[in-house]
Amino acid sequence: MVVKYSLSVLVLAAVALAKGSSSVNWGNTTGTSSDPFPTAVGNLGDMGYAAAPFRAQVDKVNTPKFDNNRWGIEMRWKPYNAQKDGATSDDIFRNVGAQSPYHPADDLFPETNKYLPVPDQCTIKQVHIVHRHGARNPTKLYEKPPGSFGQKVANLSKAGKLDVSGQLSFLKSWNYSLGQAVLTHQGAQELFDSGVRAYFDYAKLLEKYESKPVIRTTSQSRMIDSARYWTLGFFGWDAADKVNLEVLAEYDYQNNTLQPKQSCPNADNDDFQLGDKLVEQWQDIYLEAPRKRLQQYFHGAELTKDDISSMMIMCPYETVVLGYSQFCNLFTKEEWENLEYELDMDKQGSNGFMAPTGRAQGIGYVTEFLSRVQHRKFDGPQSSQNRTIDQQDQYFPLHQPLYADFTHDTVMIGILTAFNFTQFADWMDPTKPDPNRRFRTSRLTPFAARFFFEVLECDGTDYIRVKVNEALLPLDAGQGCEGRADGLCKLDDFVGHLEKYAYDASKFQTVCYGKNGTDFTVTGPVHSGAPES
Ligand SMILES: *[C@@H]1O[C@H](CO)[C@@H](O)[C@H](O)[C@H]1NC(C)=O
Ligand SMILES: *[C@@H]1O[C@H](CO)[C@@H](O)[C@H](O)[C@H]1NC(C)=O
Ligand SMILES: *[C@@H]1O[C@H](CO)[C@@H](O)[C@H](O)[C@H]1NC(C)=O
Ligand SMILES: *[C@@H]1O[C@H](CO)[C@@H](O)[C@H](O)[C@H]1NC(C)=O
Ligand SMILES: *[C@@H]1O[C@H](CO)[C@@H](O)[C@H](O)[C@H]1NC(C)=O
Ligand SMILES: *[C@@H]1O[C@H](CO)[C@@H](O)[C@H](O)[C@H]1NC(C)=O
Ligand SMILES: *[C@@H]1O[C@H](CO)[C@@H](O)[C@H](O)[C@H]1NC(C)=O
Repeated sequence: MVVKYSLSVLVLAAVALAKGSSSVNWGNTTGTSSDPFPTAVGNLGDMGYAAAPFRAQVDKVNTPKFDNNRWGIEMRWKPYNAQKDGATSDDIFRNVGAQSPYHPADDLFPETNKYLPVPDQCTIKQVHIVHRHGARNPTKLYEKPPGSFGQKVANLSKAGKLDVSGQLSFLKSWNYSLGQAVLTHQGAQELFDSGVRAYFDYAKLLEKYESKPVIRTTSQSRMIDSARYWTLGFFGWDAADKVNLEVLAEYDYQNNTLQPKQSCPNADNDDFQLGDKLVEQWQDIYLEAPRKRLQQYFHGAELTKDDISSMMIMCPYETVVLGYSQFCNLFTKEEWENLEYELDMDKQGSNGFMAPTGRAQGIGYVTEFLSRVQHRKFDGPQSSQNRTIDQQDQYFPLHQPLYADFTHDTVMIGILTAFNFTQFADWMDPTKPDPNRRFRTSRLTPFAARFFFEVLECDGTDYIRVKVNEALLPLDAGQGCEGRADGLCKLDDFVGHLEKYAYDASKFQTVCYGKNGTDFTVTGPVHSGAPES
């Protein structure tokens, strides 16, 4: 049913590039409309659809193995020179950062794996879900990788100067045909599956809940689509009658904890995207070897660092958009690992513990979490919330046994930082990858990533435990917890610690609205997700 519906959408819209609606009709916004939960609030973002896939025709991966992965995409590629490194397809598809198709973080905290079942004396009372959208198209069209390489090839081809050989021969019959920003079918499936999974895990919690649950997302196309596919999986085809989908506009000057940069101007300022600078330094080091190797097969023009970057990231993008990508086996296992290091530094430096605005980007959700978990009306401290919305029970209910909020990977990294999950506070040196780091975006924020905060009652006392893509996070003293082997923490300790420290540590007002050099000084990446002086 899902497939049929979305296929028709794709066919209608194939290859069309649509400019997202930029007209704003505030009469439609949550809290102001005559329809209390409008979904057509505009602000879909710039978007465009990709070409229609034809995997049955083009997929020539020849292995004696059936394609047993649960998705409809080709993931059997191995890295270049795989025999030499003993590499497997995991070395590609689990090393492409936030562009990784969803996979549980089964190797993130092996020490807690045996504690995954809920302890016998405990009952789950509540769950808070923070969910990323599913696999999407690249957010930019031609101005940046990978689209820029697509344009370069098209230009050369048009001028009759595309001269390729060996490993790059396939470019003769290749076209850049990705869309922009919209959810892919892979993404739809990831979200539908996740909704089904959440239904099996938590449906019982909603049994006695009398109202329609409110599920929040933002207005961008992929965000609304993701929330819808998830609710389809959880609630069925008539999900729209069973839940209230609250769509918060991603628009200038609209406070929105699920897209906080609108209310944190410095976080949106390029000077504070320190990840970009780390990425540049590291790219200069690791991209030269594959550039030289591939240049041998590309005769018409000089390949640049950006071209190699494009070719690498093309692999996961074409895979989730078209089901198949010949770029996947151009790079070695080590090169994929180097790419992952780049993608990780980008997020740690711009949204995580190395970002001066890291905590500020996540504190809005954390404060809302504190209201919900204590059933206490939102009364600040104010950060990225829209107070008008959060103070109304209809839009910010306080007694739901299950909450689900859909957001972006950047925001999810900010949320981990604002919760002070220093388990992920790895300092990353842009000249030297750290193979032992915990901070891996392929594990933390792959497509359709999900964090679960489960409130449990055990022998009359409330506890919390946190799952990051199914891995159980061992809560420790950094969160005010005892550091139990099973990851559980007394809810009072966890909440008390956050109440006491989290907002102040975010330095929200100062770092979002202050002036560098006057109100604080940031000369480079930080260690604690906030300015250090
Ligand atoms: C807002 O509401 C009006 C009236 O119901 C509707 O015509 C319009 O399509 C809605 N969406 C936007 C983005 O304005
Ligand atoms: C390709 O050609 C177009 C039109 O001439 C030009 O605007 C663009 O910059 C070129 N892009 C690349 C990557 O060469
Ligand atoms: C690329 O796409 C264009 C337009 O769809 C088509 O005319 C052209 O033949 C394609 N080129 C290749 C090499 O497939
Ligand atoms: C807050 O929400 C209300 C109701 O939707 C809206 O009218 C207002 O513009 C929003 N303000 C900000 C700053 O987000
Ligand atoms: C929006 O957030 C800013 C920054 O925290 C705050 O000054 C403003 O009062 C908020 N507006 C609403 C409607 O909550
Ligand atoms: C964060 O955790 C570290 C220990 O990992 C601790 O030193 C620090 O005080 C904590 N900060 C906050 C704001 O909770
Ligand atoms: C802040 O100011 C310092 C000193 O003028 C400068 O070196 C640094 O790059 C600035 N940081 C940001 C994030 O703009």
